Amino acid sequence: MTTKIFSNLPPPGPPGETRLRVFSVTSGKGGVGKTSIVTNLAVAFAKMGRRVLIIDADLGLANVDILLGLTPAANIHSLLRGERRIEDILTEGPCGVRVLPASSGIYELTHLSAEQRISLLSHLDALEDRFDTVLIDTGAGIASNVMYFNAAAQEIIVVVTPENTSIADAYALIKVLTQNFGEKHFHVLLNMVQNEFEAINTFRKIERAAARFLNLSLNYSGFILRDENVRKAANAQKALVEEYPVTPASRSIRFVAEGLLASRLRTGMKGTPQFFWKRLLSEEQDAVIQGIPG
Ligand SMILES: Nc1ncnc2c1ncn2[C@@H]1O[C@H](COP(=O)(O)OP(=O)(O)OP(=O)(O)O)[C@@H](O)[C@H]1O
Ligand SMILES: [Mg+2]
Repeated sequence: MTTKIFSNLPPPGPPGETRLRVFSVTSGKGGVGKTSIVTNLAVAFAKMGRRVLIIDADLGLANVDILLGLTPAANIHSLLRGERRIEDILTEGPCGVRVLPASSGIYELTHLSAEQRISLLSHLDALEDRFDTVLIDTGAGIASNVMYFNAAAQEIIVVVTPENTSIADAYALIKVLTQNFGEKHFHVLLNMVQNEFEAINTFRKIERAAARFLNLSLNYSGFILRDENVRKAANAQKALVEEYPVTPASRSIRFVAEGLLASRLRTGMKGTPQFFWKRLLSEEQDAVIQGIPG
């Protein structure tokens, strides 16, 4: 049974409030800024009063912990072996943002046994009323792990830069998510752009292809300017929006965060953390990755 000691968890939210938002942040091409965006959107959301959980679902090198200068004491492995409690594996970052290291080598969520899933689900149930915003940092491309998290999230944010390869790979990702997983709604977020004109121009290219070949309309979620301070903050292992709050990229991130909270792409989906965890850890979720290269 889960021990309900919540020293390392945010306080419970007001009873009966189910305004959970679950965003996966994904991309076709690697290196387009997903992890930078997840960490900074998380801090921006937290500053707007949201109780934020980051699920670090990417095994890549520059992960969320490193970007925020965190040193997780434990991972899912020690939770599943009964050595740690859920609150011990959540690491606390800036502004109270919590990070769940979801991928830890062999203990990826995609590879858990039925017993491990049930065990994890019972631990995660303890988080029921602790978070209202979940951001998932997925890997890039159409690998099974990426699809798994995108299919579980309520809302998918596709990050694109103005390069042609990024545009082509973003389109390919959207195509697979639409044709193989029935996803119909996508936020598209432009990163590393020189100005708004370049952002809209880039968005239009994907939008046109999606409308013509997939019969989809995409949601333009704004842009983040190319800004050397993003790299500087990462090197200093600080959140950009904290370290350089008035730099152009920080301003764009706040603007994007406000826009995302004001919009809602999908309706009719139950907005409780419990429902999300069940969806994430259901055996059905395995079906979504069938036939996709891992
Ligand atoms: N708006 C920006 N302006 C300038 N540099 C940026 C911006 N966004 C991200 N970067 C830089 O681009 C590089 C890649 O960013 P990041 O690691 O966040 O990408 P990613 O999509 O998570 O990569 P991966 O696919 O490898 O996980 C980093 O050096 C980061 O500092
Ligand atoms: Mg990354």
